[in-house]
Amino acid sequence: MTNDQLPFSGAPKPQSHMVKTVRLEPIAQNTEVQTNANLLAALLAEDLHVLKECGGRGMCATCHVYIKQGMDSLSPMNRREQRTLEVITTANPNSRLACQSRVLADGVVVEVPTGMYIDAIEDVEALIGRRTEQDLLHPITGEVVVETGKLITRSVINQLTDVRLQVGKYLAQTRDA
Ligand code: FES
Repeated sequence: MTNDQLPFSGAPKPQSHMVKTVRLEPIAQNTEVQTNANLLAALLAEDLHVLKECGGRGMCATCHVYIKQGMDSLSPMNRREQRTLEVITTANPNSRLACQSRVLADGVVVEVPTGMYIDAIEDVEALIGRRTEQDLLHPITGEVVVETGKLITRSVINQLTDVRLQVGKYLAQTRDA
């Protein structure tokens, strides 16, 4: 009998069944998460920028991911997640919201939609006169609001400000839904 097998042999050993490995395709890396932790935690742990526009309540597009493998290793979809995914234009049968998907087993492979969700307008404002390097996406619908290579002008900023306002209103309305 090895030391590991002895009952009461000192400090508890880390239990491998308490963590699960998730593959993050956008950065070609595996990461470990606690069993039952959500995928959002896995993305954030690897410094992937997730806007979390709704604060992890299952109501926005900003943590939308595609599950390339291992859908069965995630917790089942709840009603709210289903409803939100119906609004996201880029959703497909492999879509999940990272904040609502808990990791129950190994083998999940995650990809994220291309483009960047519209973030703080001040950050974009600094880019006036330059061209966007990637698509700017709507935080609720995931639609492309400004395409890659478009010149950022004052009117583009105004358009983005409008989107931010609408999103703020939408999320305020749905707070207790
Ligand atoms: S952070 Fe908004 S749905 Fe996940």
